[in-house]
Amino acid sequence: MTGPQAKHRLDYTPSPFTISELSLNFRLEPTKTRVGANSQVTRVVAGATTLTLDGESQKLIRILIDGQPLAETHYSVSENALELTVDKDQFELYIETEIDPENNTALEGLYRSEGTFCTQCEAEGFRRITYFLDRPDVLAVYTTRIEAPKADYPFLLANGNKIDSGELDDGWHFATWHDPYPKPSYLFALVAGQFDLLEDEFVTKSGRKVALELFVDPGQASRGVHAMESLKRAMRWDEERFNLEYDLNIYMVVAVDFFNMGAMENKGLNIFNSKCVLADEDSATDKEFHRIESIIGHEYFHNWTGNRITCRDWFQLSLKEGLTVFRDQEFSSDLGSRAVNRIDAVKTIRGVQFAEDAGPMAHPIRPEQVIEMNNFYTVTVYDKGSEVIRMMHTLLGEEGFQKGMACYVSRHDGQAATCDDFVQAMEDASGVDLTQFRLWYSQSGTPELSVSESFDVASGEYRLQFSQQTAATADQTEKQPLHLPIKMELLDAQGKLLDAKTKAGDFDGLFSLTAAEAELVFTGLKEKPVASLLQEFSAPVKLHFAQPTAELCLVMANASNAVARWDAAQSLLMAAIEAEFDDAAAELSPELVSAFAKVLLDEQLDPALMAELITLPSVSSLLDAKPGRDITKLFQARQQVQRKLKHALSTECDVAWQRVNVQDAANRAAKGALLLWYGLAGDEAKVQAQFDNATNMTDTLAALTAANQGLLSCRESMMSAFEAKWRHDPLVMDKWFTQLAITPESVETVLAKINQAMEHEQFAISNPNRVRALVGAFAEANPMAFHDDSGLGYAFLGEQLMQLNGINPQCAARIITPLIGFKRHSDERQSLMRAQLEQLLAMDDLSKDLFEKVSKSLK
Ligand code: TRP
Ligand code: ZN
Repeated sequence: MTGPQAKHRLDYTPSPFTISELSLNFRLEPTKTRVGANSQVTRVVAGATTLTLDGESQKLIRILIDGQPLAETHYSVSENALELTVDKDQFELYIETEIDPENNTALEGLYRSEGTFCTQCEAEGFRRITYFLDRPDVLAVYTTRIEAPKADYPFLLANGNKIDSGELDDGWHFATWHDPYPKPSYLFALVAGQFDLLEDEFVTKSGRKVALELFVDPGQASRGVHAMESLKRAMRWDEERFNLEYDLNIYMVVAVDFFNMGAMENKGLNIFNSKCVLADEDSATDKEFHRIESIIGHEYFHNWTGNRITCRDWFQLSLKEGLTVFRDQEFSSDLGSRAVNRIDAVKTIRGVQFAEDAGPMAHPIRPEQVIEMNNFYTVTVYDKGSEVIRMMHTLLGEEGFQKGMACYVSRHDGQAATCDDFVQAMEDASGVDLTQFRLWYSQSGTPELSVSESFDVASGEYRLQFSQQTAATADQTEKQPLHLPIKMELLDAQGKLLDAKTKAGDFDGLFSLTAAEAELVFTGLKEKPVASLLQEFSAPVKLHFAQPTAELCLVMANASNAVARWDAAQSLLMAAIEAEFDDAAAELSPELVSAFAKVLLDEQLDPALMAELITLPSVSSLLDAKPGRDITKLFQARQQVQRKLKHALSTECDVAWQRVNVQDAANRAAKGALLLWYGLAGDEAKVQAQFDNATNMTDTLAALTAANQGLLSCRESMMSAFEAKWRHDPLVMDKWFTQLAITPESVETVLAKINQAMEHEQFAISNPNRVRALVGAFAEANPMAFHDDSGLGYAFLGEQLMQLNGINPQCAARIITPLIGFKRHSDERQSLMRAQLEQLLAMDDLSKDLFEKVSKSLK
């Protein structure tokens, strides 16, 4: 198979030229924007005479070197580069180009979002703005001048500080911005438009006043308050926990409606998907409030881990993303419930990241080869990357880790660094040997940790035998043992924590497994203890430990760690669903029922944790445990177990319902999880009452979800009422699109509704939020319809992908995920899914983004 070529990590070479200063001049017009780019270029490799600049989708107008037009014999333009011949050590290069933001539907480079000019340059979007050394190891100081008609674009924004502004002829105006911190091109940003502005101020710990400005669509100001408050919390937290302070006098955040991802950390000028900034109680759920806080934090934290210290090349992406996800998770955990935040992260790894490891796009957190960089903004790089940082934190402790951070920052501030640089700093500062640990950066796949136990009454010895193994992945066959930090504790038969000793002495709760096999022996025990292993999911592995129901119930009730209790509950539920899958007449074990009765009746339990405890493992994680099974049957088994639980615990549910019927986020979470049990059990009255009485979106959406998932007859009227109320609000309509896409009705019914929804005034295939809410949700979260035997679901996704391929390849490549994971499904489904992929591969204008995923999946 031929096609676009991959780049390899080990082929990295520094650029023979570098650019230290860049002055940009934009004259903004929707279909023909003029860009003047003046670079100070330095030759770094003696004798180099070819300067190759990256560039795409633009018209070259002129090139000057040191003020002189460059002869045509000295340059050539291709589809993705401009090659110049220059024999000078130092020169000024001026390039003028013309671009078309209006027709830029890929949303990379400079584009228009509902009339607003905005940019997205990560990873390789800057090359669509001008010809440049568009690579993260070229750091320049940027000055940006923007000119535009004042009436339509009263705000003209770019990175750094505004140093000049004024009026021009014909109703135009201009603004000039200067960013004193050298940065790579991917952090460049420009925005021009009309906004409501929220203003605030933050005083840093050293007393610097920072102006905070949040720009939102006119009329949306009240929905920006939460993001602004979150930003101040993030700035304070980073000073307190990481000793990192903000470094400019202004921090701007802009919300735009058309955006491929969540948000972007451009220096001093973050650009956000409006979905990840705007919220009020009427229109957004508690989960969305939480997500906004965490993304605001994430982008802010990038100012140090990403911007001040950036990546040498894109293979090092996890250097900034894994670390920044770790930091945003810690921020959320310090401010909210640590247990619930940890559970969220664990669900992402088990439900999404393990699936990526098992599929055709498997890669280490530091990928070895890449065709389209946009395809590597993955749960592996981000979330497994964060797990790897978290394991270092576990091994080094908070103090050692913070020493490592301080060392990393002082060594590499102002540089483009590598993952190795980070680990080296951690190692040097803490003295902990991370030699073997480094394998986590180069080895892909999910390690499987098998544990067996034995107890000898005579000697009082309790033995745990550990073995680890990583199965071959699509990208890599040979695997080695990894350094696995395993947190654990032992309980006695009453559930009391045992102060266990090993042969080596006191046990501090952490066991490091470094070999393929190892044994840990506890001594001095009177009876067989109950082990709670891999507490807090201390390593991103699959644990195989056959623990009897009674022991799991004991851990669920008594482990000192809340995540361990939840994990035991998940294991119990998983086993119940598997039993149901194998035999529909299976009955719930009485031990399981009474364990859940305790949860429902526990007045001391944090209701947010109760919500997690009574939520069943995702279908994806169930399938992952035993691939090849019929996913629709698995979905039904899962629902059935939920119904059986509700049936067995009817009184307890009512008691719990009374207790959690309180208006705060934690109780609303419990209420929502519980309402789903009622909905599946067919309790129309309860669901309808919650819908009618709801005073916030969390309660409304919980009711809608329960009605739709339970296929209650009230669901149609509830859906219409919701649509009537919110039809003018695209962000809220996304919830409605998702609801109709994930209702477990027949594929014919669901597709008819989706096709109709595509005609809705708010739907636009060019808007990624709409596409993900409707098409993405269908493929991701409606196993019954998407995976229907007829293959109609797959064919529908195939059609949408063909269309999106020409509109927005990045968006297409994201929603294709469920299709390329066909190997985890039954044989008949596999061939239906393959057929769609083959059709895509046969397209002659297939984007690099889709090509990489489709071709890998068909190998
Ligand atoms: N760096 C961004 C973040 O994680 C990710 C991002 C935003 C991105 N927009 C993108 C990545 C577009 C690739 C393409 O915070
Ligand atoms: Zn990030």
